[in-house]
Amino acid sequence: MLDVLKIKEDFPVLKTAPHGKKLIYFDNAATTQKPTYVIDALSKYYKEYNANVYRSPHYLSALSTEAYEEAKDAVRRFINAKSSESIVFTRNATESINLVAYTWGLKHIGEGDVIVLTIAEHHSNILPWQMVAEKKGAKLKYVHLDENSRLDLDELKSILKDEKVKLVALQHSSNVLGIINPVYEIVNLSHENGAKVLIDGAQSIPNMKIDVEKLGCDFYAFSGHKMMGPMGIGVLYIKEDLLDDIPPFLSGGEMIDEVFEDHSTFAPSPLKFEAGTPNVEGAYGLMKAIEYVEKIGLDNILKHEQELTEYALEKLSKIDYVKLYGPKDAKDRTGIISFNVENVHPHDVATILDQDGIAVRSGHHCCQPLMRYLGVPATVRASFYVYNDKSEVDAFVDGLKDVRKWFR
Ligand SMILES: Cc1ncc(COP(=O)(O)O)c(C=O)c1O
Repeated sequence: MLDVLKIKEDFPVLKTAPHGKKLIYFDNAATTQKPTYVIDALSKYYKEYNANVYRSPHYLSALSTEAYEEAKDAVRRFINAKSSESIVFTRNATESINLVAYTWGLKHIGEGDVIVLTIAEHHSNILPWQMVAEKKGAKLKYVHLDENSRLDLDELKSILKDEKVKLVALQHSSNVLGIINPVYEIVNLSHENGAKVLIDGAQSIPNMKIDVEKLGCDFYAFSGHKMMGPMGIGVLYIKEDLLDDIPPFLSGGEMIDEVFEDHSTFAPSPLKFEAGTPNVEGAYGLMKAIEYVEKIGLDNILKHEQELTEYALEKLSKIDYVKLYGPKDAKDRTGIISFNVENVHPHDVATILDQDGIAVRSGHHCCQPLMRYLGVPATVRASFYVYNDKSEVDAFVDGLKDVRKWFR
């Protein structure tokens, strides 16, 4: 059992009171709040370490280079990658996916090849592949959902069988429906059919133990800010055997071996993919977030999210004017619930809840193809994390009843 009250104490922002009401932060899928442990580490970095990395022989530069490399090794260990050469620091999951599209994608995907996505993908895992498809004459194919909002694996199997699939790019779990995809099975199926697999781990890194070695995926992308780390730091894992066959993404300082007037050679990975001064304090802060998350335990975090989801789904399903989306069983999902209130626009729902200090998101959640598939322009989304509790869910459900009263 997690001591949620004690955990809450670690998050200064949760003590604030928007509109004079105690903050209930249910917008964790957009970004999570940061514990003092991470906030203080960022301040410590600037007070004691700050210098550019890999460039100068002085003491501070050595300290910050060491911190940067230590952070990379912490990420490597966190996702169980074999070598830190496979860990590339980026700005966020979006940049990580773009890196793969612009480098591996443009090099290896050709005319008539197929890129498989799911209908529930975030725009960050759609637009880069639309770019590759357009430039290379490749095709995009989408896997849809079954009647319980689970991914239709039969559809995936038939696409893999019938088409020349080069890449399957999918989310580990959905930022709208909370669905956890069976990524182990999908990696195996895809590899059996000669396709590489990119996993968008933006919503799974905060609450699931990721083991890229066991999983066997080719690429795994995520952002630090969704797991209590700072904004502006993301990660791309690239499987070791692909590293030499992927050209650089951006070019300039730090990523070179030698530069001549008319050509250049490149540093080995990961520096080859990290042009310019990196986000050292972000990497340092991410390492501290990993330490914090591991102290709580990822299994505990997922269990807690699922308990809150089950509790909230049970309450919400009893309200006849609330329409819920996603699997009915909380075990199939993370702590994300999307819903609509009959005859009330999602933005109005979110605005009224905000007056009660309850932060939820409304809109298309960067998933317009999924919204069209669900037949709605938008939803309201409540997303829970480790510092949320059942009393907050109660307040949220009461708030929804008030929303309805307002609009009657
Ligand atoms: C499933 C999913 N993929 C990708 C992203 C993009 O993350 P970022 O904006 O940190 O790049 C998000 C962000 O909400 C997401 O939920």
